[in-house]
Amino acid sequence: MEKSFVMMKPDTIQRRLMGKVLSRFEEKGLQIVAVKMMHISPGLAQEHYGEHCERPFFNDLVEYITSSAVLAMVIQGDDCISMIRKMVGATNPKEADLGTIRGDYALDTGRNIIHASDSPQSAEREIALFFQDSEICDYSMPDSDLIYEE
Ligand code: GTP
Ligand code: MG
Repeated sequence: MEKSFVMMKPDTIQRRLMGKVLSRFEEKGLQIVAVKMMHISPGLAQEHYGEHCERPFFNDLVEYITSSAVLAMVIQGDDCISMIRKMVGATNPKEADLGTIRGDYALDTGRNIIHASDSPQSAEREIALFFQDSEICDYSMPDSDLIYEE
């Protein structure tokens, strides 16, 4: 079963949207297997978003993501990496479809609510950056026959 790294950014927590955002993943049938509220250090933020280090918005991005607590998560489910990206919506919330998380809750690229891994390679790297193996919980969902055919 695939795992994705998902992180609610500081605006989500400060706007008291954590429960609503988390509910979307639960209602979809995905499984939350790790959750951690934390303040990200500038070093961790720079490593997490390392691919963007040459971009003009990089310093603003690091400042935003380290400005207050975030909620880091590992979410599990069949093909969940691409599914969660669809649920999150486009990077610029003005372009994100209504019905997506960014489309429904955000207006500005620099305050876009949530991060989600964009590939299996990113997911593996990001999960290892934020979680130890022992922090990821392996538990069964009694309704899995209602979510999956097999
Ligand atoms: P993440 O899931 O957070 O990685 O977003 P993404 O994959 O949809 O977009 P991308 O990886 O290209 O950019 C990472 C983050 O940088 C975005 O989510 C934004 O928070 C921020 N970002 C991207 N482009 C801009 C920009 O043009 N201006 C500003 N201020 N921030 C940007
Ligand atoms: Mg990205």
